[in-house]
Amino acid sequence: MADFSKFYSDNANNMKASTIRELLKLTQKPDIISFAGGLPAPDVFPVEDLRAAANVVFDTKGTKALQYGTTEGDDGLREELIKFEANQGVTITKENLLVVSASQQALDIVAKLFLNPGDYVIAGRPTYLGALQAIQSYSARVLGIPFTSAQDGFDMAVLESSYAQALTAGKKIKYIYVIPDFQNPSGFCWSLEKRKALLEFSYKTGLPILEDSPYREIRFIGESIPSIYEIDQKGANKGLVINLKTFSKILAPGTRMGWIMADHSLIAKFVVAKQAMDLCTNVFTQMWLAEYMRTGKLESVIEGTRAKYRAKRTLMVDALERYMPKRNDIHWTKPEGGLFLWVTLPAYIDTAQLLLKAIEKKVAFVAGAGFYFDNPEHNSLRMNFSYPTADQIEEGVRRLGLVVQEAITAHENP
Ligand SMILES: Cc1ncc(COP(=O)(O)O)c(C=O)c1O
Repeated sequence: MADFSKFYSDNANNMKASTIRELLKLTQKPDIISFAGGLPAPDVFPVEDLRAAANVVFDTKGTKALQYGTTEGDDGLREELIKFEANQGVTITKENLLVVSASQQALDIVAKLFLNPGDYVIAGRPTYLGALQAIQSYSARVLGIPFTSAQDGFDMAVLESSYAQALTAGKKIKYIYVIPDFQNPSGFCWSLEKRKALLEFSYKTGLPILEDSPYREIRFIGESIPSIYEIDQKGANKGLVINLKTFSKILAPGTRMGWIMADHSLIAKFVVAKQAMDLCTNVFTQMWLAEYMRTGKLESVIEGTRAKYRAKRTLMVDALERYMPKRNDIHWTKPEGGLFLWVTLPAYIDTAQLLLKAIEKKVAFVAGAGFYFDNPEHNSLRMNFSYPTADQIEEGVRRLGLVVQEAITAHENP
């Protein structure tokens, strides 16, 4: 077999296959009830309406849709996105907007633009695994900040002191990465006060904020809180916030389509960075989604998704209450939106080990350790409630409760 390893770049050597993604393969066997993936419920995909929109594209602009496009994105789609954002109170122009191949590409573009080897990104403990992978692939590191016990954002005192210490140690910090709406993995949602405090921190330090908002529209309980991007825009408007959006959770992830909103000078740089990756985002899909958005049906799909996920989240929370051992050192989040909840178990339980036991009982989750850049906490796990059916939620949580009880019994009676 050919050996390529001596040719790999230093950056390539920093790209680690995630153990979590490896474990995910185990969880994909057909007879396993999996709470591990992050998949939307397939029954929310409006297949027939999307087919009709695709037909309109072929019928009216087939050759254009099959041609190269501009890196910035299809004008028709950008107009629809500007309207979509305006409906939510966010005012942007085409200069503030770049269409991307979903937010994962945006995470890579931002990392590519800002990070030298050894640089730091401030991010939550825990945070989204795919963002960690993007940062690692540029040989950069993460300064991890814990959340408050109220789960309403970063512990700002720790942020201030970690930042000061990092500067004293000569560390170069390039940006702050946050997912304020229903974070993956935890489901945490930042309060308005914490969003404002982070923005003030950004103004004071000059650090850009990368606000990743794939779940923003999937709020199924309570009132929406303005994004940090919007707070800046309606306030001092310093343009330090980069906001990422995607069709993955509001329509269908297979479209691989998203958008970046940012200051026009940054968008111009992102365009150049993106050109080396793929020249332009898939033109057919852009026209197809623009056509679909013109039908005005996206809003009702989002409404339907919210209702479905609210019901499933409630089933999962109720099932956890019924089946998990009742102890002070076992608790879980009760998210008001998004796709995930986060379970914390007694400190002596390592959820990576627990997963192997769970798989024996044919239920799966994601062990929490993978959502930390370093010094992981081992006693938490992520559960997805959007994909499993109601019956699977009931039976899967029942099995999980048994596995956790067995781990506690084994610890207490060694
Ligand atoms: C926080 C966060 N950001 C980005 C992504 C990537 O999404 P996509 O590339 O499908 O837009 C995900 C996917 O689960 C996510 O949870």
